[in-house]
Amino acid sequence: MLSLLTTTAGVGLALPWLAAAVVHTPTPPMGWNSYNYYNCYPNETIIKDNARGLVELGLSAVGYDVVTPDCGWPSKNRTADGQITWNPELFPSGFPALGEYLHGLGLKFGLYSGAGVWECTPDNGDATVGHEVEDAHTFAAWGGDALKYDNCWANIDTMIRFVDYNPSEKDPSVRFAAMSDALDSVNRSIVFSICQWGVGQDLGVWALKYGDTWRISNDIQDNWKSIWRIVNQAVPYVKHTGIGKYIDMDMLTVGLGALSYEEERFHFGMWAISKSPLVIGAPANASITSEESLAILSNKDVVALNQDLLGEQAQLIRRYTEEEYDIFAGNLSESRKVIGVANWSNSSKSVNIDLQLVGVQKSGNIRDVWAAKDLGQYEGAVKVDLKGHEAKLLILPVSAQLIYDVEPLYYPAATGILQGDAMSASCGGGCLPKGSKVTNMTVGSSVTFSNVSGGVLGGMKLIGIDYINYDVALASAWTNGTNTRNFTLSVNGGEPRRWSFPISGGDWYETGRLDVLLEGFHVGSVNELRVEAPGLDPGADLVGLAVYT
Ligand SMILES: *[C@@H]1O[C@H](CO)[C@@H](O)[C@H](O)[C@H]1NC(C)=O
Ligand SMILES: *[C@@H]1O[C@H](CO)[C@@H](O)[C@H](O)[C@H]1NC(C)=O
Ligand SMILES: *[C@@H]1O[C@H](CO)[C@@H](O)[C@H](O)[C@H]1NC(C)=O
Ligand SMILES: *[C@@H]1O[C@H](CO)[C@@H](O)[C@H](O)[C@H]1NC(C)=O
Ligand SMILES: *[C@@H]1O[C@H](CO)[C@@H](O)[C@H](O)[C@H]1NC(C)=O
Ligand SMILES: *[C@@H]1O[C@H](CO)[C@@H](O)[C@H](O)[C@H]1NC(C)=O
Ligand SMILES: *[C@@H]1O[C@H](CO)[C@@H](O)[C@H](O)[C@H]1NC(C)=O
Ligand SMILES: *[C@@H]1O[C@H](CO)[C@@H](O)[C@H](O)[C@H]1NC(C)=O
Ligand SMILES: *[C@@H]1O[C@H](CO)[C@@H](O)[C@H](O)[C@H]1NC(C)=O
Ligand SMILES: *[C@@H]1O[C@H](CO)[C@@H](O)[C@H](O)[C@H]1NC(C)=O
Ligand SMILES: *[C@@H]1O[C@H](CO)[C@@H](O)[C@H](O)[C@H]1NC(C)=O
Repeated sequence: MLSLLTTTAGVGLALPWLAAAVVHTPTPPMGWNSYNYYNCYPNETIIKDNARGLVELGLSAVGYDVVTPDCGWPSKNRTADGQITWNPELFPSGFPALGEYLHGLGLKFGLYSGAGVWECTPDNGDATVGHEVEDAHTFAAWGGDALKYDNCWANIDTMIRFVDYNPSEKDPSVRFAAMSDALDSVNRSIVFSICQWGVGQDLGVWALKYGDTWRISNDIQDNWKSIWRIVNQAVPYVKHTGIGKYIDMDMLTVGLGALSYEEERFHFGMWAISKSPLVIGAPANASITSEESLAILSNKDVVALNQDLLGEQAQLIRRYTEEEYDIFAGNLSESRKVIGVANWSNSSKSVNIDLQLVGVQKSGNIRDVWAAKDLGQYEGAVKVDLKGHEAKLLILPVSAQLIYDVEPLYYPAATGILQGDAMSASCGGGCLPKGSKVTNMTVGSSVTFSNVSGGVLGGMKLIGIDYINYDVALASAWTNGTNTRNFTLSVNGGEPRRWSFPISGGDWYETGRLDVLLEGFHVGSVNELRVEAPGLDPGADLVGLAVYT
C-alpha cells in the first residue's frame, strides 16, 4: 500500500491529526478472510490453501491480496515476556513464517485482534487492549500489512458481556485511537480496519481519524435481508468517506450458497460502488465455490468501480415507493458517473429512468457494466429491464449542471398540524436545516401540511424529506432489524404510499434527506400533504419538507 507520509520507527508521538492525513490505502482494500466460512477456526492449512487458491484462480491478479486469519488464531496466553502469540497447534510453522509464505505468493498478511481483553472466540483467545504498543510492534515484526481490530469483551471494567451493545464507556473512540497511535509508531505501513460495529454515536466522525476503513454494522449474515439492512445503514456515510477513508460493509457472502445469482451480483455491485473493502468470505477453491460466484468476484469491470481513483461512495439519490427500487449514483474518474439501479423486489418489471434526475448529461454513451456492453447513445431517459433482486450498474458521462437549480420551498415539520402522539422537539445545533423536529410518530400519529405549493403546473413534484432515523440495528440485526423506519405520504387525500427511511446520521439529531417523487399536486399553495407512521413500529422523526415546484 502507498503511504504518502513516511512513518518513523520508535517515534511514539500520538498525532491523530496527522493520522487522518496518512493514506495507507488509496482505494478500498481487497482480500480474503477466514471468518465467513471457517468461523473462529482458522488454521495454517486452511490459510495456505486459500492463499494458493487466490493465486491459482486468478483472484489475486484481480486485486484480492490481503489474506487474514480472523478470530481463533492466537494462543490463549501471551508468552512469558508478554507478547501476543499464535496457537502452535493450529499454526505449527508460526506467524512470521505464515507472513513469509503469503508474501512469497505476492500476497499481503492481514492480522486480526481487538480493542478488548479477549477475541470474539469461544475460548477467549487473547486480544490487544492494554498492549497496543507491544502488539503493534509484534504485528510489524511478523510482516503484517493490515489489521482488523474487533470489539468483543470491550467492557473492560465489568467484563460481563462478550458483546455489549450498550456499553457504559463514554467515548468508544479511545480504545481505537490507542491502537491507531501504536500502529503509527512502528516502521511499517499497516492498514487499520476498525471493526467497532457502530456501537454508540457518531462513528463516521471519529472513525475516519483513526482508521483506514471502519465497520458500520453488525455482522453480515448469509441471507438476503442482511443486504437490505447493511445498505440502509451505509447511506449517511457519504458525508465522511473519501480517498483513504472507507466504510466497511463487512465481508462478502458471495459464494456461500444462500443468495441467488442475481442477489450475489446485487450484493457485490452495491459493496463495490459504496467503496467498501471487497473481502471474499467463500473458500478460494473451485470445488467448493461455484464457477458463477467466482466469476462475479472476478469481474474486473465491477472491481474497477470499487477501485476507482476518486474513491467516492455512491449515494442514494432516489427511492421509489414500497421498496421497489433505489437509484444510487457516484462520480467516477474521467468525468464518468456510475448509476446503480437496485430492485429490492423479487420479480421482473421494467422502468423508465429519467437520467436528467441523476446528474448525467442529457445525451451520451451508456455502458451496462454487468452485461459488459456499450448500449450506445441515450437521449434524456433510458429504459431499464430489471429482474427481481437485480441491481444494474450503468456508466454515463457526468454533468456538472444542477437538475433543480431553483431553491425549494421549505415546510418545517413544526409548522404542520400534529395529531396523535406527534410532538415537536427542539434539538440544539442538530436537526438542520430547521433546528426542530417532530418526534414520537407512533402508529396513528401524523403531520399535515395544508399549504404546500404545486407551482404553476401541479402534477408530479420532487420532494426532499428531511428526517432523522438513528434506529440502528445492533442486537436486532440477528432477528428483524432493518435500519429503516417507515412513513406514508399522501397528497390531497390520495392513497398513502409508503417509503422506508434509511439511517440518517450519527445520532437522533442528525438530519438526512430522502428525495422522492409524489403525484397529485394542484396548481398553487393549496395542497395538503400528510405524513403518517403506518406500521406497529414508530416512523422516523420529521424535520421538514423541501418542495421543488
Ligand atoms: C524502516 O523500514 C525500512 C524498510 O524496511 C528500512 O529501510 C528502514 O531502515 C527502517 N527505518 C528505521 C528507522 O528502522
Ligand atoms: C478444495 O476443496 C476440496 C473439496 O473440499 C478439497 O478436497 C481440496 O483439498 C481443496 N483444495 C485446496 C487447494 O484447498
Ligand atoms: C494460561 O495462563 C493461566 C494463568 O495465567 C494458566 O492457568 C493456564 O494454565 C495457562 N494456559 C496455558 C494453555 O498455558
Ligand atoms: C486445519 O483444519 C482442517 C479441516 O478441519 C484439517 O484438515 C487440517 O488438518 C487442519 N490443519 C491444521 C494445521 O490444524
Ligand atoms: C422489481 O420487482 C418487483 C416485484 O417483486 C416489482 O414490483 C418492481 O416493480 C420491480 N422493480 C423494478 C425497478 O423493476
Ligand atoms: C425470489 O423469487 C424466486 C423465484 O420465484 C424464489 O425462488 C426465491 O425464493 C425468492 N427469494 C426470496 C428472498 O423471496
Ligand atoms: C459529481 O461531479 C459533478 C461534476 O463535476 C459535480 O457537480 C458533483 O457535485 C459531483 N458529486 C456528486 C455527488 O454528484
Ligand atoms: C410518546 O407518546 C406516548 C403515548 O402518548 C407517551 O407515553 C410518550 O411519553 C411520548 N414520548 C415522548 C418522548 O414524549
Ligand atoms: C405554510 O403554513 C404555515 C402555517 O400557517 C406557515 O407557518 C408557513 O410559513 C407556510 N409555508 C409556506 C411555504 O408558505
Ligand atoms: C421486530 O421485533 C420486535 C420484537 O419482537 C417487535 O417489537 C417489532 O415490532 C418488530 N419490528 C418489525 C419491523 O417487524
Ligand atoms: C415497513 O413496512 C413494511 C410493509 O408493511 C413492513 O414489512 C416493514 O416491517 C416495516 N418496517 C418497519 C421498520 O416498520
